[in-house]
Amino acid sequence: MNSDILKAGAAHVRKGLPQARPRWAIILGSGWGVVAEAFKASATIPYAEIPGYGETQVAGHAGRLILAQHQGTDLLIFQGRRHWYEGAGWEPVAMPIAIARSLGISTIVLTNAAGGIRSDLHPGDIMVIDDHINALGASPLIGPHDPFWGPRFPDMSTVYRRPLRQLLDRAARQLDHPVAHGVYLASSGPAYETPAEIRAFERLGADAVGMSTVPEAILANAAGMQVVGLSCITNFAAGVMDTPLSHSEVIEETQRAQAPMRRLITTFFDLLAESAEP
Ligand code: HPA
Repeated sequence: MNSDILKAGAAHVRKGLPQARPRWAIILGSGWGVVAEAFKASATIPYAEIPGYGETQVAGHAGRLILAQHQGTDLLIFQGRRHWYEGAGWEPVAMPIAIARSLGISTIVLTNAAGGIRSDLHPGDIMVIDDHINALGASPLIGPHDPFWGPRFPDMSTVYRRPLRQLLDRAARQLDHPVAHGVYLASSGPAYETPAEIRAFERLGADAVGMSTVPEAILANAAGMQVVGLSCITNFAAGVMDTPLSHSEVIEETQRAQAPMRRLITTFFDLLAESAEP
């Protein structure tokens, strides 16, 4: 990763939002973009204007950074994400985390769409990410050590913080909308997996599979942020059913789950505001 590019991007945002004092951030992945509408926005910066970030490449990813307020707290909303499989290097993938780190974010919520591997995970379910498996074959931390990202060898034993996961459970109970829990595995994509790969991932301990989130979680955790993650299960993973997978099916399924996604996130932030931050 080129730290100079990341620091220039973060400096651009700091300059564009001089009044911002955000403590929380959220990255809205495939189909989650509508959640941004639940918050009061006070400023917007298109990713394309942020040096080193660039426009999103995938349908369903708006590509803007929104400064919003909730319960008296400033919040950064990244509406859409850049992916490793886009081939533009790690900088666009790492940019939201570099910006979050640079603006002093303490808690970050990562969201995505994922295929369900475990048999009880069905399209429309929301899964709290308890842990992850990095099957990308790469890490954004490879390269010269930059103390901006914490120690050379960051601990990964509690990336997805238990108190935050418990807060999501409380929010789900309050809404009477159950959430699942599981391990998310990231493969590089952009091809969906083969049935043999899914069987292998299941044996490795994966409950759901996607193409994102893990690099962001690695970086945010290394930089000392509290991380929590949510997957919207949009399909049965390859080979579980006979039907072929498609991105339009993924987006369609997240559209059905939008009301609970939105309520879960706003209630989570309500509870986070109430709690002494975990
Ligand atoms: N595999 C990988 N990524 C995905 C899937 C899947 O089945 N569904 C949504 N994103």
